[in-house]
Amino acid sequence: MNAALRAVVRAALGRGNSVVGFDHGYEGLIHDEMREMTSLSVGGIIDRGGTILRTARSKRFMTLEGRQRAVEVLRQNGCEGLVVIGGDGSLTGAMKLHEEFEYPVMGVPGSIDNDIAGTDFSIGFDTAVNTAVSAIDRVRDTATSHERVFVIEVMGRRNGFIALEAGLGGGAEAILLPEVPYSLLDICRGLREAAAKGKRSSIIIVAEGAARASEVNEFISKSTGFDTRHVVLGHMQRGGSPTNFDRVLALRLGALAANRLISGFRGEMVGVEGTKLVSHPLSYVLSTERQIDPDRLILAEVMAQ
Ligand code: F6P
Repeated sequence: MNAALRAVVRAALGRGNSVVGFDHGYEGLIHDEMREMTSLSVGGIIDRGGTILRTARSKRFMTLEGRQRAVEVLRQNGCEGLVVIGGDGSLTGAMKLHEEFEYPVMGVPGSIDNDIAGTDFSIGFDTAVNTAVSAIDRVRDTATSHERVFVIEVMGRRNGFIALEAGLGGGAEAILLPEVPYSLLDICRGLREAAAKGKRSSIIIVAEGAARASEVNEFISKSTGFDTRHVVLGHMQRGGSPTNFDRVLALRLGALAANRLISGFRGEMVGVEGTKLVSHPLSYVLSTERQIDPDRLILAEVMAQ
């Protein structure tokens, strides 16, 4: 998010605008936590995870009264447009400002879950996946040396994009996703068959929305008698220095959002499809479900044989 913020600020300044930021997201907007953003204020942050503006979940912004107050603050401060960087909730808030008050907004997709339609990638996903894969690689050393089954839980409350991507890259033997029905009995059968062929260790990736690693671990242990362990990667996936892919993505999306807003476009979310930058109405983005790639599912199955 810091790289995106840097891009928004510098692209807008470059076109002769002044830029302010609001601390703590919508909550800070309601409380007028405004600060001036200069080129210098976004210097030295491209390699930092999170956001220097900090963030908050705002209950008040979910009410019409809260949003009214937010628009008041924006107008009183002479703000002519708002760029919102975030996931589903943040983008829904932006759409409401656009629809209820005709306030000029532009969304930038930022979510490690990568569950936002209208873009192939959300900012943070690549970094989270790479963090998960390096953790899987480390765990595999113990799995192999001790001949164990490891169940590794990754983030993904409602979807399995991180699990599938990290499971593929981490060479997992099974990947459990909320979107795809699975049978633990079948997984145990697969583990026994693999063991009969000489395979002594396995890695199973679980999206947190599909099951809890501890429960899967217990089931496998009881049903197969294998030596099993589980690991929950948790919030370490949401931090750390972003990959270069994420940095460049964030710069491209942030600059595009600022430029489109300044050029008079409203109520959109910028994104990337293939190698091209795109921009879609927020109403389309938020009413469309991003689907798991079926080719990746087949690939994961073939690779797990
Ligand atoms: O950003 C989405 C997400 O990473 C989910 O995958 C995860 O369940 C959730 O955030 C965790 O949120 P919190 O920090 O509020 O526990």
